[in-house]
Amino acid sequence: MPTALITGATAGLGAAFARRLASDGFDLVLLARDAKRLDACARELHDRYGVRAEALPADLSTDEGIGRAEERLREGVDLLVNNAGFGNRGAFLDVPVEDELVMLRVHCEAVLRLTHAALPPMLERGRGGVVNVASVAAFATRGTYGASKAWVVSFSQAAAAEIAGRPGAGRVRVMALCPGFVHTEFHERAGMDMSGIPEFMWLGQDRVVDEGLRDLRRGVEVSVPSPQYKAIVGLSRFVPASLVGRFSRSGRRWD
Ligand SMILES: NC(=O)c1ccc[n+]([C@@H]2O[C@H](COP(=O)([O-])OP(=O)(O)OC[C@H]3O[C@@H](n4cnc5c(N)ncnc54)[C@H](OP(=O)(O)O)[C@@H]3O)[C@@H](O)[C@H]2O)c1
Repeated sequence: MPTALITGATAGLGAAFARRLASDGFDLVLLARDAKRLDACARELHDRYGVRAEALPADLSTDEGIGRAEERLREGVDLLVNNAGFGNRGAFLDVPVEDELVMLRVHCEAVLRLTHAALPPMLERGRGGVVNVASVAAFATRGTYGASKAWVVSFSQAAAAEIAGRPGAGRVRVMALCPGFVHTEFHERAGMDMSGIPEFMWLGQDRVVDEGLRDLRRGVEVSVPSPQYKAIVGLSRFVPASLVGRFSRSGRRWD
């Protein structure tokens, strides 16, 4: 059975990845901070799909938490989904700088270190994949969040290029997944009022996962699910990033 390690696997997109991969027959390593919730998710996935589901409680904003994930990845997995992420409650200057640094740790340092730990065993076996969940916010000026996701896109492209020339890289893929708005716990946790966002801008979790995994199989390096967001990201190349950022902020308020 192939094995997938998913970070942020207890809610939103990570939970959708877990359900989809379990139904595809993957054994799972599920990572998040809330150990009770993790255990419940692991049990439910095991009971429903008959796969092995291992709970790995870890906080990816800590050196110890990242270290635990690295250790498990060095044993070898077939797919790593670097999905854990969050938004801070407020704009750059209104948020304690420590919280912005925690975001960089989870969105950038953890993604870097987990990818670094996962790829060597994949290259040895000549197959595997890393999906780094970024965001369409990577293509606009959207504070530290957008900047961290722009890093994820750039880093994923660089990692894909870096492994391309290596022996065994033929069937090893690295991809950045850039969803638009998805109904998850994300906005509530960040205290964002999203009532101004029109319905057509919202994507279903399962759709994002389906399109992402299909793009991974096809060897796409930057996946942007849905025609509407492909168009927005395409157009953003011709419009100043600050203008795209102003537009994308217009329907969003913090409580
Ligand atoms: N929702 C959207 O509109 C949207 C759009 C574009 C991109 N994204 C990206 O998609 C990814 C998933 O977000 P989501 O919307 O599914 O959010 P979500 O519903 O809030 O789920 C976040 C998950 O990450 C875990 N997590 C948070 N901080 C963590 C930490 N320090 N260490 C380990 N696990 C942690 C949470 O569990 P615990 O709290 O138990 O740790 C939870 O399982 C994020 O990277 C986000 O930036 C979301």
